[in-house]
Amino acid sequence: MAEKEVVETSEAQIAVHWQEEGYYYPSYEFVAQANMTDPGVYDRFSLDNFPNCFKEYADLLDWYEYWDTMLDTSDAPCWKWFVGGKINASYNCVDRHLAKNKNKAAIHFVPEPLEEKYEHITYQELYVKVNEFTALLRDFAGLKAGDRVTLHMPMLAELPITMLACARLGVIHSQVFGGFSGRACADRIVDSNSRVLITADAYYRSGTLLDHKQNADIACDLAEKDGQKVDKVLVWQRYPGKASSPTPMVEGRDYFVNDLLKDYYGARVDPVPMPAEAPLFLMYTSGTTGKPKGCQHSTGGYLAYVAGTSKYVQDIHPEDVYWCMADIGWITGHSYIVYGPLAICASTVVYEGVPTFPDAGRAWRIAQDLDVNIFHTAPTAIRALRKIGPDEPAKYNYHFKHMTTVGEPIEPEVWKWYHKEVGKGEATIVDTWWQTETGGFLASTLPGINPMKPGSAGPGMPGIHPIILDDEGEMLPQGAGKAGNICIRNPWPGGFQTIWGDRDRFVETYYARYCKDPNSKKWEDWPYLTGDAAVEAEDGYFRILGRIDDVINVSGHRLGTKEIESAALVCQEVAEAAVVPVNHEIKGKEPDLYIALKPGIEASDELAQKINDTICTEIGKIAKCRKVWIVPDMPKTRSGKIMRRVLGAISNEIDEGDVTTLANPEIVASIKTMVQS
Ligand code: PRX
Repeated sequence: MAEKEVVETSEAQIAVHWQEEGYYYPSYEFVAQANMTDPGVYDRFSLDNFPNCFKEYADLLDWYEYWDTMLDTSDAPCWKWFVGGKINASYNCVDRHLAKNKNKAAIHFVPEPLEEKYEHITYQELYVKVNEFTALLRDFAGLKAGDRVTLHMPMLAELPITMLACARLGVIHSQVFGGFSGRACADRIVDSNSRVLITADAYYRSGTLLDHKQNADIACDLAEKDGQKVDKVLVWQRYPGKASSPTPMVEGRDYFVNDLLKDYYGARVDPVPMPAEAPLFLMYTSGTTGKPKGCQHSTGGYLAYVAGTSKYVQDIHPEDVYWCMADIGWITGHSYIVYGPLAICASTVVYEGVPTFPDAGRAWRIAQDLDVNIFHTAPTAIRALRKIGPDEPAKYNYHFKHMTTVGEPIEPEVWKWYHKEVGKGEATIVDTWWQTETGGFLASTLPGINPMKPGSAGPGMPGIHPIILDDEGEMLPQGAGKAGNICIRNPWPGGFQTIWGDRDRFVETYYARYCKDPNSKKWEDWPYLTGDAAVEAEDGYFRILGRIDDVINVSGHRLGTKEIESAALVCQEVAEAAVVPVNHEIKGKEPDLYIALKPGIEASDELAQKINDTICTEIGKIAKCRKVWIVPDMPKTRSGKIMRRVLGAISNEIDEGDVTTLANPEIVASIKTMVQS
């Protein structure tokens, strides 16, 4: 019983009562043009037809050799899709479109400064740029299939070019979000054993040209200390031929890409036919321990899944202009700016900067200029734009037929503003629920088939069969009005293959909880634990409530509380650190940090600032804490465990419940006075 007390209240135990929102229906015009309007798709993708249903997705791609086994479960739960197939992602995203669409814009690049021109890269130009850079990677950097290379690039068109060049050779890219620190980049270089780092010298963010090259120097130094030497740093220049960063180049290690590219002018490199299950990329994400995990995504399965979902959920047609306002440094950008849209020959927008620079109308001006008609963003951006420019969308002449929200739960009020103001009441909205691990959407309405319901993602995607389990593993039926742990009953082609170099952690984190027989080779025995709590309504729509683990979703970005705590502990003065999520009107959640100092160290504002600065250096500015509270002691159980639940309640100014069983109940009142006064 004593141990039971230390278990933080799981969302699964909380019965939720919420106001069911009414349906919104897509317009007749939308349905008339939608890529998927046949409700029979749900039957075709039912469990009875699993796994063969996914042939429909695989057939959206061109294969060098067609696969012979749809799903190989022999190494459960490391599923292998389309086994025997040979494919190249770069070929599928570029070369195959040339015959009919070489003059079509593949990428519209929008620089942040207003005075700079948009750049429109056709599929032919993309082909040329990808080929020349591939030749450089192969012949100058010596990269070959299976090697890992770390990218630490901002939102420039050179980022998708770099990814596609890697994919052309079968080189596994690991893109680190540009806003992450040099330290975070170093950790990923070490974990993936990258000896090449590809970066950019500078980029614009909110009107400032940031020196990005300095992060590469930090990353290389720290990686080397941790045992991984980077022998080449390839630096794309924000302005080719012009120095934009004051950080000097390191002789013999650093090279400007545009200097080298001259030697590869006109080069063409045949795409390397890769086994379907060869890894395409790693994407690191936060988990419950301090160390981010490298989610390993496959080539064939991943590409088939993102191509299919881009076509049927994003509803992209050849004539559309599609803008996903995410960062390619996150999975959303990989799947739904780069690989999915390009695989189906879309025109995709890459915007360098922030949507509110220089004012709240910027995003809508871009939409107007490019005649964007499909728009994809996160609730945090919608909340921000709603707050600072509620009347801005109406001032611009654009029309979205389709909009997406992704990354965190959206409040029905915010959804309604998005629908009415941004979508001008005309756009169909999809609320897509998924994760870095899952490669593509898990639940969403199909826009031409299901009505929308504000605040609910919708049913499982065709071929994805979610189930809500309680803590004992019992299934909660539809309409139970109770939250539980949402799991997926079956594998799907877009799912990650493993955690890079850590299969045990993969099995433990995602499958151990509900697997009945760890020796089973049957997929039915391995429900995938998503780590989210959810409720299923009577109509089968899922409403996602948030994480059940120590992961905080800040502005739609995942941060591990343990990751932030480990960063705080880098400060010598810190004895203990505890992070809790606090509600925030724009960001959704924000981290609050509680610190206990080592004996003899005095608390001060300067020290609190130093700790917060350390977190930014260790991880990046996105991990900055709302407040650093230096407390005399942490509230603890008798077994010495920090009661984060109590701290979370104090930060959010809600009832902290019964604290009498704590080892030091008196500390709660004093922390409360400090935080709430
Ligand atoms: O908690 C869920 C939330 O974001 C988590 C995944 O974060 P990440 O791996 O960074 O991927 C974000 C982009 C896919 C999930 O576990 N989440 C994602 N989409 C939604 C969501 N929560 C509610 N509604 C969504 N549509």
